[in-house]
Amino acid sequence: MHAETKPTDHKAAALAAFKDLQREPGVTKPDPILVVDNVVRRFGGLTAVDVKHVEIQRGSITALIGPNGAGKTTFFNQLTGFDTADAGEWTFNGSRMNGVAAHKVARSGMVRTFQLTKALSKLTVIENMRLGAQNQKGESFFRALLPSSWRAQEDEITARADELLARFKLDAKREDFAGSLSGGQRKLLEMARALMVRPELVMLDEPMAGVNPALTQSLLGHVKDLREQGMTVLFVEHDMDMVRDISDWVIVMAQGTVIAEGPPDTIMSDARVIDAYLGAHHDAPLSEEELEEQLQEAEAALEAEVEEEAGK
Ligand SMILES: Nc1ncnc2c1ncn2[C@@H]1O[C@H](COP(=O)(O)OP(=O)(O)OP(=O)(O)O)[C@@H](O)[C@H]1O
Ligand SMILES: [Mg+2]
Repeated sequence: MHAETKPTDHKAAALAAFKDLQREPGVTKPDPILVVDNVVRRFGGLTAVDVKHVEIQRGSITALIGPNGAGKTTFFNQLTGFDTADAGEWTFNGSRMNGVAAHKVARSGMVRTFQLTKALSKLTVIENMRLGAQNQKGESFFRALLPSSWRAQEDEITARADELLARFKLDAKREDFAGSLSGGQRKLLEMARALMVRPELVMLDEPMAGVNPALTQSLLGHVKDLREQGMTVLFVEHDMDMVRDISDWVIVMAQGTVIAEGPPDTIMSDARVIDAYLGAHHDAPLSEEELEEQLQEAEAALEAEVEEEAGK
């Protein structure tokens, strides 16, 4: 597998689209699938989101980064109809989407996953998949689980679910409760479930968070795969190595606004981005003192373990 070293046609096309763009917040893209204007969401006195203008290039993998509390998840919630913006408009494939309910947004081809996975733990993997399709179509919860007269449609949904489970290597878990899956497998299930509606734009909120390294590679592969199949991906991620690995373009949010855009290899050296991360305490690099403290804690834990072993 040397896909990394030789850019695929889709990757090359995405990179070409970004090649001559200005590295400014809100820069226009050659062929945007999503165009956002003046989206505001306030919580009491806090303005969580205030995005003036942003465009997502069709067929690309765009990363949305920013310190904790920057408003990334809140922004996703507005765009996908899971929350109601105080103001703003946005178009997906040229259609206005503000005020459209979540299931209709999904049906129109724009799906998202959640930072905290929403797999229903008391349902099996295949039931979660089937429900994904039905829910996103706005049909009833129970119809998705009960046999009905809509056999043909049900069979088609099951076939699609099985095909996706195989692709995501979850077919062996088909009849297991989602609650028995590992964190990483749940993330895979959520991504697979989002694909039930054959979306054009897939929005992933921290798809790799809390996933062990073995599955991380697999998840990264699946994200790249979405672009290879002609989909557009917008994903939130904190790990810059992963952002560099898979994204064609990066949009940076801080304190609710888009503060910078640019290619993944240079975005972190942008002064505005450095300021944003240093200004926000959470994601700032550890100080010497903090590092020392963590090192001592780790050593103490190791010593305790060694002593316990010796005492046995
Ligand atoms: N339902 C809510 N009620 C009140 N405040 C909220 C609500 N949801 C989010 N916020 C606040 O809005 C701001 C943006 O939060 P958000 O979760 O969108 O950030 P984020 O960029 O996704 O952060 P993280 O990287 O930690 O996931 C934060 O200050 C948060 O506390
Ligand atoms: Mg978030």
